[in-house]
Amino acid sequence: MKKSCVLVSGGAGYIGSHTTVELINAGYDVVIVDNLSNSDMKAVEGVRQITGVDIPFVKVDCCDLEGFRKVFEQYQFDSVIHFAASKAVGESVQKPLEYYRNNLTSFMNVITLMREFGRPNIVFSSSCTVYGEPEKQPVTEQTPRKPATSPYGNTKQMCEDILRDSVTAYAGLKGIALRYFNPIGAHPSALIGELPRGVPQNLVPYITQTAAGIRECLSVFGDDYPTPDGSCIRDYIDVVDLAKAHVAAIRRMIEDKNKSSYEIFNIGTGRGVSVLELVHEFEKVNQLKLNYKIAPRREGDIIAIWADPTLANTELGWKAERTLDQTLASAWAWEKHIRGMK
Ligand code: UFG
Repeated sequence: MKKSCVLVSGGAGYIGSHTTVELINAGYDVVIVDNLSNSDMKAVEGVRQITGVDIPFVKVDCCDLEGFRKVFEQYQFDSVIHFAASKAVGESVQKPLEYYRNNLTSFMNVITLMREFGRPNIVFSSSCTVYGEPEKQPVTEQTPRKPATSPYGNTKQMCEDILRDSVTAYAGLKGIALRYFNPIGAHPSALIGELPRGVPQNLVPYITQTAAGIRECLSVFGDDYPTPDGSCIRDYIDVVDLAKAHVAAIRRMIEDKNKSSYEIFNIGTGRGVSVLELVHEFEKVNQLKLNYKIAPRREGDIIAIWADPTLANTELGWKAERTLDQTLASAWAWEKHIRGMK
């Protein structure tokens, strides 16, 4: 039996492209929309190559309500996964209005059109950033949210609230917010992966670019934190595992297994890994030496956070499967692929 169709906004981006692959693998049809502001058609081509499916792509900005409405008129999807958003924490501090306008308008437009066209299911990309610096580890979905420390983080909290209030008010609308921990790695085919523009702000792209000789030296931001080796701790989740969590969320809504119309799930491995551990693991698994130095702390960094993913394990039937070694090998394979290295 043919499964239903899913609209993936931001489907040319890092997580969106991997999720599209997993949706197709699970038998769904997909329509991608993306304004290509921070993404590339190469990702869509990679997805088409991996799946062998000529997935429809519409270049549209979700903030353009009229343009976006045409997509709803043209395609019969009943679920939406909304990735399209600006995502650089530092940039959001410099450009707060752009972040609020883009991230909130596009999300409200999605919900507006879903109501107008009677499309019931939405998955929203949230982030563990909503927990701030948690008092207790690991964090569960019940761990209180902390006031956001950046406009970016604030848009994640506000969109969660918009979703909660919308599903409460509008009969027939169901929503799941997935709170991602730190997504890393690439598809095992090395045909899609992360494509940061300019100098990478995130750890793993900086590591792979350093290993490829594009960056001279990785700065490890701080080794004097109150952690076992002094560097910060995160929960690094493989992007393919993360993509599969979206498929599980869509399935749950379609099969009507929700306990309520609005649900939240942590999507992480449950394991905390320090920056220095990650660096050494990367060196070991890829058999290379990374040029790195200890640098001062980066302003605004959380000391440590990792997930309790029990709820996603039991309710979504989803679990992170790939090992850190597999993930770090895939990140390096991808970097070599885009640089034309052997
Ligand atoms: N780090 C370095 N050197 C670098 C880059 C990062 O040491 O060049 C360290 C950071 O200090 C931090 C860890 O690596 O301790 C992870 O940093 P990332 O920038 O990769 O990720 P963050 O945890 O800071 O941020 C990520 C997402 C955000 C999201 C946040 C939620 O990028 O979008 O998780 O906590 F908001």
